[in-house]
Amino acid sequence: KPMYVCVLVGSLRKASFNGMLANALISLAPSSMRLDIVEIGGLPFYNEDLDTAAPPAQWTAFRQRMKAADAVLFVTPEYNRSVPAVLKNALDVGSRPYGRSVWDRKPGAIVSGSPGAIGGFGANHHLRQSLVFLNVPTLQQPEAYLGHVDKLFDEHGKLAGDGTSKFLQAFMQAFANWAETVRPK
Ligand code: FNR
Repeated sequence: KPMYVCVLVGSLRKASFNGMLANALISLAPSSMRLDIVEIGGLPFYNEDLDTAAPPAQWTAFRQRMKAADAVLFVTPEYNRSVPAVLKNALDVGSRPYGRSVWDRKPGAIVSGSPGAIGGFGANHHLRQSLVFLNVPTLQQPEAYLGHVDKLFDEHGKLAGDGTSKFLQAFMQAFANWAETVRPK
């Protein structure tokens, strides 16, 4: 049975380079994985007052969807050297109610992308800080900090060069192999 991987993208804009990266990663993933982008832009801001017996429907749907996932792939830009708020909100929503986190023991991997040269390193590693606490074992190698993402795609949003495709394909294969060894059986 293929591993079901939820993909969370840390940018909401239509022409997002990280959105393009997510699509490229999905198409380059090995056949042992089935991947879906899960929309996080519609999740109301986390508020403990709303986390009652009847929480917002979007939270419940998101939590159920993430619970069903065998692994999670984060593809994110860097905002002010950190994780975009929309992605942090999704982490927070999934982490509650206390004791019922959707993240616990779910293997994860991070790809960060930026038009800048540092490739979203700050976001990538701030995200890792939260994932340590959330008990998401996270792929360490290979790392994926993609700089100059605005130069990687053609006008159809497809990867233009061979080098990045090969790298991302190897990344997904490594993620698949490793996630298979750590996911709860
Ligand atoms: C940015 N950007 C940015 N880039 C970067 O490399 N480091 C940073 O700290 C920031 N900070 C930042 C803050 C905010 C609020 C915005 C809107 C943007 C630029 C960012 O990398 C660029 O807009 C990317 O194109 C965003 O990714 P998507 O939307 O193309 O996936």
